[in-house]
Amino acid sequence: MAAEEFWLYGYGSLIWKPPPHFDRRVPGWVSGYVRRFWQDHRGTPEAPGRVVTLIDRSYWEQLTDHHDTAPDKVWGVAYRIIPDKVAEVKDYLDIREINGYSIHYTPFHPADGSAPIRTLVYIGTPDNEQFVGPQDPQQLAEHILKSQGPSGLNKDYLFGLETSLDDLSPESGDIHVSDLARRVRALEKDAQASGRPLEPSNAPTSDFHSKASTNEAEELEKE
Ligand code: BEZ
Repeated sequence: MAAEEFWLYGYGSLIWKPPPHFDRRVPGWVSGYVRRFWQDHRGTPEAPGRVVTLIDRSYWEQLTDHHDTAPDKVWGVAYRIIPDKVAEVKDYLDIREINGYSIHYTPFHPADGSAPIRTLVYIGTPDNEQFVGPQDPQQLAEHILKSQGPSGLNKDYLFGLETSLDDLSPESGDIHVSDLARRVRALEKDAQASGRPLEPSNAPTSDFHSKASTNEAEELEKE
């Protein structure tokens, strides 16, 4: 019997930093989710600061988010892993990505209209301790500008995501990402013009306001 295919969906750094041992890279989208810079990865080896996660769209609709629109299609890429390497890649992904994320499976729709593909996706759910929740976009942009980690500057992650999304399709832009990138560029320009140094920031920027759960919001605000 032929081995089942293993496909991985990337909506963040995986778009421009592919996993090892893939033989196909397919642009496309998933639905039912909203991409947000709501996952905090300070101090973890692979991520430089605030990074993206996917929020269940029905959950997001109950929240108060300053970015109050989100595309129905969350664009990204699906990678097919070479069958002989599936076990190795699954091990690698567990080490590289699992911190604060859980594994889900979701149908992925290739941009060329071919049949949907079942893909593995990593999602930082609201119950994990690195989930931050809605933030004021300007404060989030300031946080991103000042953050960095072993894998680089947080702003480079943001700019990498913006560029790689724009490259996928004429309709793959994400207003949440492009608005943050615009704010970071403006802040950078201001800082350069005034000669102000960019201090590393440890300040929390969460202002999580859930219409669904005040207790959960208070828990998150204490972090
Ligand atoms: C992504 O690029 O899709 C991704 C990478 C690491 C963790 C979660 C998602």
